[in-house]
Amino acid sequence: MNQPIMKGVATLNPPAYVQNQKLINWISEMAALTKPDQIIWCDGSQEEYDRLCAQMVAAGTMKKLNPAKRPNSYLACSDPSDVARVEDRTFICCAKKEDAGPTNNWMAPSEMRATLNPLFDGCMRGRTMYVVPFSMGPLGSPIAHIGVELSDSPYVAVNMRIMTRMGKAVYDVLGTEGDFVPCIHTVGAPLQAGQADVAWPCNATKYIVHYPETREIWSYGSGYGGNALLGKKCFALRIASTMGRDQGWLAEHMLILGVESPEGKKHYVAAAFPSACGKTNFAMLIPPASFTGWKITTIGDDIAWIKPGADGQLYAINPEAGYFGVAPGTNTATNSNCMASLTANTIFTNVGLTDEGDVWWEGMTKEAPAHLIDWQGKDWTPAIAKETGRKAAHPNARFTVAATQNPVIDAAWDDPAGVPISAFIFGGRRSSTVPLVTEARDWVEGVYMAATMGSETTAAAAGQMGVVRRDPFAMLPFIGYNMSDYFQHWLNMGQKIAQSGAQQPKIYCVNWFRTDANGKFVWPGFGDNMRVLQWMVDRIEGTGKGVENIFGITPEFKDLRWDGLAFTQEQFNTITSLDLNAWQDELQLHTELFEKLAYHLPPELEATRTKLLGKLHS
Ligand code: OXD
Ligand code: MN
Repeated sequence: MNQPIMKGVATLNPPAYVQNQKLINWISEMAALTKPDQIIWCDGSQEEYDRLCAQMVAAGTMKKLNPAKRPNSYLACSDPSDVARVEDRTFICCAKKEDAGPTNNWMAPSEMRATLNPLFDGCMRGRTMYVVPFSMGPLGSPIAHIGVELSDSPYVAVNMRIMTRMGKAVYDVLGTEGDFVPCIHTVGAPLQAGQADVAWPCNATKYIVHYPETREIWSYGSGYGGNALLGKKCFALRIASTMGRDQGWLAEHMLILGVESPEGKKHYVAAAFPSACGKTNFAMLIPPASFTGWKITTIGDDIAWIKPGADGQLYAINPEAGYFGVAPGTNTATNSNCMASLTANTIFTNVGLTDEGDVWWEGMTKEAPAHLIDWQGKDWTPAIAKETGRKAAHPNARFTVAATQNPVIDAAWDDPAGVPISAFIFGGRRSSTVPLVTEARDWVEGVYMAATMGSETTAAAAGQMGVVRRDPFAMLPFIGYNMSDYFQHWLNMGQKIAQSGAQQPKIYCVNWFRTDANGKFVWPGFGDNMRVLQWMVDRIEGTGKGVENIFGITPEFKDLRWDGLAFTQEQFNTITSLDLNAWQDELQLHTELFEKLAYHLPPELEATRTKLLGKLHS
């Protein structure tokens, strides 16, 4: 094995089990550029995880929680300037601007490389480079792909161990010739000799950069979430979506759940919602007590990779191995399975630290602790919160936990073959206009619904909250190429399924978030979403009733099960009524979206809009 000689930087010393020359060459090149003090090849072991966590506790990056309250768990608090994905600093750098499309920030690859090179030159001085090999998806699955992240953040290394299949075994899959997506990450805070480190190093300048043509990821300046854990949004969505376009599969911002009837009939559905709209809650839903014998199980809570099988049907895997979920609002009523998952072996980021050495966040319990240390390290009491509005946890505070800790993990969650998908669900956060549930009459209408999805913004991304933005397929921040080409790809996939003779999955649009005149949510949501799911399953099975309206097929009040819930026809009307004036405006907004996406926009979508408009006026 040739080990390139490097001057003045840490020696590479690849372990004997690393046999991929392309990988070694790339790491060597990156080490020469970033100039770390040392290189650690992560093996993914528990011993390594414990060691890195202990090192971060000593450095003040993490606190170990009270083992009597939350065994083997930690709290990390970030720099207040580094708390969410930075969409305005996220770039798709392909040769042609049109290929990135109007929804992405674009820069020519050569220009971006010229910008990043000086920033990455020496960016790891005084730090350790961790080599983090990972598989997105079950090791060796035909649907899975491999990545290697080089990062100067031990926080990234330990989070990647939870979020992906990370470690030594990846090199067996990679072998001597295997392909991988190279991901380089730095917090952008080199240390001079003798310079003391800070608890959460980062840089005010941030770049989250993707080169889809060469399938590379370069991330600079942030240590947080999707900016830094590069397997997640950067690889599993932005780069993978371009791989899917080229290779005939789908990389989607979707949870995957199994729904099993009391008779033992099981369907898997994949559901796309924008960030912080309850995907994790939906993926772990507990059916109402009256739904005896119905079971919901989780394959994944955020991302789905979906490939056609030999039979023409779509099969999905969760490329991740853990959940990086939003903590605030999570409690035993909203997501009891999630709370059970978090009882041990969890990394919390930006939540409050109680006086007992446990964690707390807004909405975790009805009553707040009398005193805690908030995510910014300040004393916090309910009185201080009332007076100043200061939160114990940042609204985008997160937990990182292994999927295997989920009490309702699906038996097939790690199956390399994936699970067959019976339906796609698309949902936004809309206080008005969009009804509880609508079934598309055909694939094209379903693609139209998904393409025109809107949602009120949340804290998952930096920026203004609560304004409606169009978020096609919940992929606006995550699509790695031109949005119109992505719509075309979905249309093509539908055609391919039909041509194979397989059943196309049904497509649904849902909205759990409609409010009444006082701004209060009308739909109870959470476990009661089972009522809508059951209707979908009945529709898939051919037994569910519904009526056709302007926009698709919707259930009448009598078509859903109401046992165990006091919900009136009047309340149902509030969340299912179609305000024709509002829809007139809504369709106008679809036109504005289509005007923005004009380049390569599939004509079927404009034709569907015209058809809907015609129905609205008839
Ligand atoms: C996430 C997001 O972190 O969508 O999952 O922002
Ligand atoms: Mn997400």
